[in-house]
Amino acid sequence: MIFEIVITILGAVLLHWLFIALFNPWRYPPGPAGLPLIGSLHLAAPEFHIKLPKLAKKYGPIFTIKAGCRRVVFLVGYDVIKEVITDRAKDFASRCPTIVARIVRGEGLDGIAASPYGPKWMANRKFFYSAMRTMGLGKRGIEKCVVDEIPYIVGELENICSNDGLFEPSSVFDSAVLNVLAYFTFGNRYSYQDEKFKELIHINNDFFQKSKFLNQPQFFLLTLIPGLDKHIFFLIRKINKFVKAEIKQHRQNLDPENPRDYIDCYLNELNQMNDQSELSELGLEMSIMDLFQAGTETTSTTLRWAILYLANNPHIQAEKVQQEIDEVLGFDQLPQYEDRMRMPYCEATVLEVQRMATIAPIGLQHCSEDDQVLGGYRVPKRTSIVACYHSIHFDPKFWKNPNKFDPCNFLDSNGKVCIPDAFMPFGGGLRICVGMNIAKQELFLFFVAILQKFSLHLPDDMDHLDEKPGPGIILAPKIYRVQIKRRA
Ligand code: HEM
Repeated sequence: MIFEIVITILGAVLLHWLFIALFNPWRYPPGPAGLPLIGSLHLAAPEFHIKLPKLAKKYGPIFTIKAGCRRVVFLVGYDVIKEVITDRAKDFASRCPTIVARIVRGEGLDGIAASPYGPKWMANRKFFYSAMRTMGLGKRGIEKCVVDEIPYIVGELENICSNDGLFEPSSVFDSAVLNVLAYFTFGNRYSYQDEKFKELIHINNDFFQKSKFLNQPQFFLLTLIPGLDKHIFFLIRKINKFVKAEIKQHRQNLDPENPRDYIDCYLNELNQMNDQSELSELGLEMSIMDLFQAGTETTSTTLRWAILYLANNPHIQAEKVQQEIDEVLGFDQLPQYEDRMRMPYCEATVLEVQRMATIAPIGLQHCSEDDQVLGGYRVPKRTSIVACYHSIHFDPKFWKNPNKFDPCNFLDSNGKVCIPDAFMPFGGGLRICVGMNIAKQELFLFFVAILQKFSLHLPDDMDHLDEKPGPGIILAPKIYRVQIKRRA
């Protein structure tokens, strides 16, 4: 009897699957049929950015991949990405409460990055921008945080030069980038040797290391793998504990007339708010977690790519980048962000690093809170939609020689910086990266400051650093070292 019931259920599942695979009755975007229960994510993973354009050749620029029981709609190519992310930004500005989001955020889908489109997300995002203005960070304030960090970076590199000169960039960039955010949110920077700070960096790195499984085909099975999601939860709780302790301390020392940082501004707002306010202490905690998780590894990884590409391209380093720095700044003048106006080649080089690295090749998932029609297909509400930015950053329609590192991709015939519309390293539309202006300043200023004082060389036993990224949520170079030398 039990056997018959099982066979009947399996038969029904198989028929249902066959019916949907063959007739697509709900007019979902097309895609591989996949296997019952498992789906077809294995066809796109692990190297989504490479495999998605190939699938698009077969199924068109909008297609569906099944991840277990869920459907994920992928967008490949500029036209469809622009339509969803920019032109119909409001229709597709939400985030689904996916398993991945729950693992990364726990149950508290408040704050900015994982929050669905709605009043809480809007209030927290708006608050972030207004805090930047209040603290002067929208003008020169954030630049000061970044510029103040430069002597510490240079100091670290001096120490490395005094030893064997072998530089493993994440050791320095993780600390520098985290410090800029620490200054913004907590009001102070830390010494690179500070034990509490080192622990925070270690937890953050460990989190990204473990989270690389989240980009693998089996991510929807994560909750079934004993221990893995628990370990990620454990790391998140540790960061959360750190953030909570800072908020508590800020509450005790708060001077409403003189807000020192992001936490003070937010607490001031909470103290004055009425019942309708969408801000809350949970929103504060989650927003800070967002800034740390979205703002550290991304920026630090891009800087690691910058060092790698420049070491692999010594002619660009010496004859173009350093020559421009020498002409505009000389050896001793600290760079300012406005100097980029006089340093188009350096700015173009940073942009080209971002394009070639495309560290967020498939962006963050978007979704709609209502049923939508897209390209003639039906996309039900709360279906995850993912844009393949890699497909536009390497599209020969927009770039002369897409697979070659060439800053001229961002220079016009007069040598001025020009940025094609198909360049979207920070996403776009309503969900565009909130930290974009902070990241741009960090990338330009740290890059110029390092190349001003040091030159980068391949270690003696190497003729090329590996440009193929390792696995992960964001595409990062595999661990490498370069030889650095003082320029004077
Ligand atoms: C090179 C560095 C960075 C890159 C490439 C980058 C890229 C991105 C991308 C692609 C998105 C998704 C946009 C979308 O959903 O369409 C995003 C979102 C976000 N980023 Fe960044 N980011 C960087 C640095 C930062 C920094 C420094 C911060 C914080 C200070 C930050 C905070 C955020 C937040 C909070 C979101 C979520 C926005 C929302 O959902 O409304 N990012 N970023």
